[in-house]
Amino acid sequence: MSKELQLKVSAITGAGSGIGKAIAKAFAQVGSRVAVTDVNWEWANSVANEIKEAGGEAIALKLDVTRQDECQAVVDLIVERWGHIDLWVNNAGVSTMNRFVDLTERDWDFNMDINAKGTFLCSQVVVRQMLKQTPDAANGLRGKIINIASMAGKRGNAPFLAHYVASKFAVVGLTQAMAGELAKQGITVNAICPGYVATSMQEREVEWEAKLRGVKPQEVRQLYIDDTPLGRLETAEDVAKVALFLASPLADFITGESINVNGGSFME
Ligand SMILES: NC(=O)c1ccc[n+]([C@@H]2O[C@H](COP(=O)([O-])OP(=O)(O)OC[C@H]3O[C@@H](n4cnc5c(N)ncnc54)[C@H](O)[C@@H]3O)[C@@H](O)[C@H]2O)c1
Repeated sequence: MSKELQLKVSAITGAGSGIGKAIAKAFAQVGSRVAVTDVNWEWANSVANEIKEAGGEAIALKLDVTRQDECQAVVDLIVERWGHIDLWVNNAGVSTMNRFVDLTERDWDFNMDINAKGTFLCSQVVVRQMLKQTPDAANGLRGKIINIASMAGKRGNAPFLAHYVASKFAVVGLTQAMAGELAKQGITVNAICPGYVATSMQEREVEWEAKLRGVKPQEVRQLYIDDTPLGRLETAEDVAKVALFLASPLADFITGESINVNGGSFME
């Protein structure tokens, strides 16, 4: 995969940290121009600077995925600068944790708004843009969308995460529905379902879960490792490698899939 994405234009949401950051860097390393977007522009800018310092091409753009007007502005800006969008990664996501009986409407709305509705709102703007693009002569595709779902988008038995589970099942369903509807128009849509990834999201979850279970954070981290047959926490780079595969020509004939990347935690 030396320069697989040479001159491709990609955009990643929530790319200011964690998995999104790893994907942005991985895409840039194989020659993609990368729009690093995040609700926190400072974080996005720092990632874009890292990419540029390493010799890549990147811009940092502020994007709150719950705001379709912001997404439209971001898409317009990318097209004005680079002419088209080949790859869009809906990665931005949040979580909170609570026992089902204690979940609040606020927990529900926060998770559903960013994880599920944000994926819908951004994808709609991106698809409208991709439909205007001429299909690539090499593969007949106008563009590819990759959604970062979760193991919790397939395995409902995830303690304290009922609302998050619902939001990620929605992402897996939306991935299939979009893929079915858009295939004939040359747009592929796939999802990745990571397991226990060591990011700031996980750090927050470890603290919450430790309190809810009445144990030490290290015990929760150990629970995650024990639930992973490959025997370690997942890294953001483990996820980025699969995003890179889906973005590359190697995956041109894959659509509607939600690929598990979880060290064996959940198999189907
Ligand atoms: N960490 C895990 O164990 C894990 C497992 C499975 C799936 N995921 C999913 O991977 C994705 C990335 O998670 P992460 O672990 O890197 O988390 P993270 O908290 O490290 O990063 C999330 C990023 O999203 C941004 N963000 C939050 N709200 C946003 C909004 N409204 N608009 C745009 N950006 C916003 C944040 O600023 C942050 O940079 C999420 O969709 C998450 O649900 C994570």
